[in-house]
Amino acid sequence: MSTLEHLLKNNEGWAQHQCADDPDFFTKIARRQSPDYLWIGCSDSRVPAEDLVGLLPGELFVHRNIANIVGHTDLNVLSVIQFAVEVLKIQHVIVCGHYGCGGVKVALKDDDNGLIDNWLLNIKDIYQRYEQELDAIKDDDKRHEVMCELNVIEQVRNVCRTTVVRNAWKSGQSLTVHGWVYKLNDGRIKNLGTEISNPDELDPCYRLTVNKAITG
Ligand code: CO
Repeated sequence: MSTLEHLLKNNEGWAQHQCADDPDFFTKIARRQSPDYLWIGCSDSRVPAEDLVGLLPGELFVHRNIANIVGHTDLNVLSVIQFAVEVLKIQHVIVCGHYGCGGVKVALKDDDNGLIDNWLLNIKDIYQRYEQELDAIKDDDKRHEVMCELNVIEQVRNVCRTTVVRNAWKSGQSLTVHGWVYKLNDGRIKNLGTEISNPDELDPCYRLTVNKAITG
């Protein structure tokens, strides 16, 4: 029989460590969560949301999927956004992609990867939108990096166009949508400069950041 005793032992150590710092830690957290941020990131095991930004349990509401996609009809991500904005009243949505994203790489090839290719059509669509500009980048790594940035910018736009976010802005709720990319090789996050707090900012910010990503 193969067991996961080592993970359960890790958990025991972790819980003890948290209590050593603050004996009421779990009692407080069990009562309620009040995170200020929603994180939409990639499922990649090298991009652990809370750790990257130094937040504790209870401080970050998290949704992760392959290649941090915010699909218009994805009930999962839409429900997360709705709960975060309408119930938790979070103030910031962060879409954080990462360079070296396998999902983005796969989307740019014509291989057969099975079911996941359907999911990654979202990214293929983005590639087609900027095909001319992307094909003009001769360095493969650079092209991939630009594609990772464009993916984040497009997903930020998708967040802003959801009924949930539009209604929140309409009702005067304070909510800013951010676009970031994480670098696997040095652990740093690059801010792509999208900080959208109302519908009027969306189009100008979108154009500006797309242009910046493409021209480097
Ligand atoms: Co990824």
